[in-house]
Amino acid sequence: MKDYTFPRDFLWGAATSSYQIEGGIENNDWAEAARQGKVPKAGQACDSYRRYEEDFDIAKSLSHNAHRFSIEWSRIEPEEGKFDEQAIEHYRKVLQSLRNRGLEPFVTLWHFTLPIWFAEKGGFENKNSPEYFTRYIKYVVGNLKDDARFWITFNEAFTIYAAFTKLSATWPSRGRGVLSFWKTRKNMSKAHICAYKEIKNISADSAMVGIVENNVYVPDTKNFFTTKIRRLFKKLRNFYFLSKNTPYYDFIGLNYYHISRKPVFKEKDEVVPKQWIMEKMNWEVYPEGIYHVLKDLSKLKKPIYITENGIADSTDQDRSGFIKNHLRWVHKAIQDGVKVGGYFYWSLLDNYEWQHGYGPRFGLVEVNYDTMERKIRPSAYEYKRICETNSLSF
Ligand code: FCB
Repeated sequence: MKDYTFPRDFLWGAATSSYQIEGGIENNDWAEAARQGKVPKAGQACDSYRRYEEDFDIAKSLSHNAHRFSIEWSRIEPEEGKFDEQAIEHYRKVLQSLRNRGLEPFVTLWHFTLPIWFAEKGGFENKNSPEYFTRYIKYVVGNLKDDARFWITFNEAFTIYAAFTKLSATWPSRGRGVLSFWKTRKNMSKAHICAYKEIKNISADSAMVGIVENNVYVPDTKNFFTTKIRRLFKKLRNFYFLSKNTPYYDFIGLNYYHISRKPVFKEKDEVVPKQWIMEKMNWEVYPEGIYHVLKDLSKLKKPIYITENGIADSTDQDRSGFIKNHLRWVHKAIQDGVKVGGYFYWSLLDNYEWQHGYGPRFGLVEVNYDTMERKIRPSAYEYKRICETNSLSF
């Protein structure tokens, strides 16, 4: 048996996002698309807008010391330029509830959803979108600056969102195509930079401003050309924003889920064991990949937090193995000098998984969507042991 101890002050927690858990959100582009039958309905989700204290009690009982959640833009600014004070007060209470329980908040300011008024203007295709976004950020951070230290502007804007809305047409969007994709990425880069400056302006002493990306592990192969093409793909996909904009983020949030063999699929030396295809998601789980992704990111010389890593597993048979295997490789990266400051499992609760609806079960905690009852899964207790001892043993 080997012991893996993590650095002192390492943060341990779980992540969620507003539309996936809160319930009752009707005013964003996903709710609109659901009404049009284009994506599954989120409806009451986990009802966490009302039950957040119960959720945080659970997180605390599981020995977490940090928690990542997101703020819903469509609640804060339901109409263009009109800000809802009750909504901001709600999130202030959320932050205070976290702090009262000793959970360090990581606040995501945008996690995929757009207020309908903003979507009608073309969302991030609109050339004025950086100003709209920054006005929203200014309002939120201006109001909540004393309640949080870690701010995340965008979740997976460049690695997932732009492609899923503009290229693959699986997510709600008004415009599609390569030009839309290009404009969206450009404007989101600008929006991040403006938001970064704005937050620093409001709260330079304490704020740590990061950006979250979903970097996949793209392996080399024995074939020279396949390797060249894959490395180019990796650069364009994983590093489009991160490598050019280092002055404009204080930390990197890494969401790591799987290996990608795109854009060249067929290599004979790459047989995939069946048990590693994730239930419902069809993702190829590969724990060692997180090590390589972290090593690649470490070249940017910024602190890294693992802001998501998780498995859809309704039986809970594989979840604790998944967590431990990934953490073993995170530990190895840390031993090699990579600065990793924390780990957030995705997700605290089962929740609404975008185009897949309620099928995938990612939670440490099972949710009964009829009664809203929460039931802690055995793997959550295994993870608790890791959190409380700041180490794992194999
Ligand atoms: C990530 C998203 C998160 C969740 C997980 C499974 O890409 O950030 O909202 O859907 O995948």
